[in-house]
Amino acid sequence: FSSRANSEVVLDVCVQMGYRHFDTAAAHGTEEAVGKGLKKGFVDGLVKREEVFVTYKFHLLDAGEVRSAVEKSLSALQLEYLDLCLVQSPSKLLKSCTYPPNQRESASLPSSVQEIWEALEDCVQSGLTKAMGVCNFSAKNVKEILESASVVPAVNQVELHPMWQQKQLREFCQSVGVRVSSWRPLGGQPPLSVLNNSVIKEIAETHGKTPNQIALRWLLENGVISVIQSYDPEKLLEYINLFDFKFSVEDLEKLASLDQDLPFYVV
Ligand SMILES: NC(=O)c1ccc[n+]([C@@H]2O[C@H](COP(=O)([O-])OP(=O)(O)OC[C@H]3O[C@@H](n4cnc5c(N)ncnc54)[C@H](OP(=O)(O)O)[C@@H]3O)[C@@H](O)[C@H]2O)c1
Repeated sequence: FSSRANSEVVLDVCVQMGYRHFDTAAAHGTEEAVGKGLKKGFVDGLVKREEVFVTYKFHLLDAGEVRSAVEKSLSALQLEYLDLCLVQSPSKLLKSCTYPPNQRESASLPSSVQEIWEALEDCVQSGLTKAMGVCNFSAKNVKEILESASVVPAVNQVELHPMWQQKQLREFCQSVGVRVSSWRPLGGQPPLSVLNNSVIKEIAETHGKTPNQIALRWLLENGVISVIQSYDPEKLLEYINLFDFKFSVEDLEKLASLDQDLPFYVV
């Protein structure tokens, strides 16, 4: 979810459709709306707390600020614990910077991911979050964490879609027990998205599906968790309608050989 006025209503629709993973971030400013929507789902008996999975992301802070950031998000979300807490980037941002940051701002401060990681480990031990992970970390960044961590990152959330498959990073993460999650699973907004890729369009037509569904099914079959954003109930329904078709060997070969030239953010 990002910041739009109707997040609360959309969240209610999602819960009713069967969505159970909600991904939010301090930078999106949507924790309050997500919290209200979830509370409504709990009160109406649609869903129980233990049946939903809530992810929260924050940019690198000073280690001493981590716990209060997690507590602040829990209070906005009206929850007692998070399921997953992610460090949003290996780069530290200037406190005054705008979001999304420009290159100069994001590279401008030295950071110690290890110290942040220790502070997050304390949050896991205190029960504020069940798991912890990272976003936009390269294999090198993940290795640095593993050198001193007592908790292995549960997840690395990165840009990943059929036109930016990140095969080596996926293989590395799998080899060290880190699950990969995809942001921008549709390749972003048109005209950049999978909607305009002729190979994906052709495979979609063969199966009577949309290019978006082909991208999401491809991620699913590769063991990647998708984090998708929409405020449109029709699209939300399209995005979970993925289980009534199968790729042929030829489809998979065509998808594996797509040009890899559309990253928005290179890890
Ligand atoms: N961890 C990180 O560092 C990080 C960074 C960036 C983003 N994220 C997360 O990733 C999630 C998804 O990112 P994203 O929105 O950039 O990428 P995306 O999921 O690949 O693209 C979704 C966008 O495509 C549009 N779209 C889909 N089908 C369309 C169609 N048929 N015609 C026109 N437009 C269509 C959607 O519009 P509608 O809104 O109209 O449905 C939506 O804006 C976000 O929730 C965000 O929280 C994480």
